[in-house]
Amino acid sequence: MLEKLEELKNEFRESVAGLQDRNSLAEFKSTYLGKKGRLNDILKGMRDADTDVRKQVGGTANELKQEMQKSLDKQLQKIETTEIDAALNKNWQDITLTDSVRAKGLKAAGFHPVTLIQREIEDIFISMGFDILDGPHIEDDFHNFEALNIPDTHPARDMQDTFWFADMKHLLRTHTSTIQVRGMEANEPPFKFVGPGKVFRCEATDASHEMAFHQLEGMMVGRDISVANLIYFMKTLLAEIFRQQVNVRLRPGFFPFVEPGFELDIECLICAGKGCRVCKHTGWVELLPCGMTHPNVLKAGGIDPTQWNGFAFGLGLDRLVMMRYHIDDIRHLHGGDLRFIEQFKAY
Ligand code: PHE
Repeated sequence: MLEKLEELKNEFRESVAGLQDRNSLAEFKSTYLGKKGRLNDILKGMRDADTDVRKQVGGTANELKQEMQKSLDKQLQKIETTEIDAALNKNWQDITLTDSVRAKGLKAAGFHPVTLIQREIEDIFISMGFDILDGPHIEDDFHNFEALNIPDTHPARDMQDTFWFADMKHLLRTHTSTIQVRGMEANEPPFKFVGPGKVFRCEATDASHEMAFHQLEGMMVGRDISVANLIYFMKTLLAEIFRQQVNVRLRPGFFPFVEPGFELDIECLICAGKGCRVCKHTGWVELLPCGMTHPNVLKAGGIDPTQWNGFAFGLGLDRLVMMRYHIDDIRHLHGGDLRFIEQFKAY
């Protein structure tokens, strides 16, 4: 009987790996392990054997049974994996193959121009050692105002500018400066990061204003950071983005969270400074408000302003897109007209 079991084992081992599908596996299993299968067939002889032989054969048969069960399970797994691979291969479609997509009468997907610019700017800052941070659209008063040194009486808190929730505690962030606060909370100085995202303001819309638009916040905190550092990074950024000579001007600007604060304007690229509706006929476009971080802001972020200082900026991405692609109305960006979006495929 032991010999027969040995034979059975060898036969089983030889053929189990050759099973290619579920049906033959099930059939094979019942041939070997079924009630009327080959293993039981051998064990039938046990009835007439003595106790010693029965013990020995029983033990070997059990081991064999376990081994068979294990390799059958393994083989089933292999078959399942092959089946899944086959199904995936059959339905596989390369959506980046524009021609094949077009051939099927489908439209190729593209990136929104704001996404294109955002990625490009992220890459520029990553190359200068900045981290990329994110923050929520729904914020509280602390992160949007209080920690940014914006007092209760500040007009920015006005109902007309801010989308408040009914609880009057939460709001849609009005600027990405909230990411400054979250960045300070989460990091020990020195650090530098940018944080892109959508912001919301309850404003009337026109050629240069939308209720939802995009900013890219930046912050650098370290020891002895100066206005010269700020200007260096802003200049590098503009040179990389425009790859052409753009005229800029720096004006004093007031934001409660920076001191001193600046407005960096660029000469309007749509009208070459002659005046148009995008630049409100001034020839200049406000693009990059910035400044040296106010000590109160560092304090609210858990940073000791006697040890550390820094700068921050808030780049308007939609305006940048408009300047780059010569778009004369911000409302095109979220107008949902596919003919507009389809023009921006490349990345
Ligand atoms: N948060 C400001 C705004 O939305 C922009 C800003 C950011 C100004 C950082 C200075 C520094 O208008």
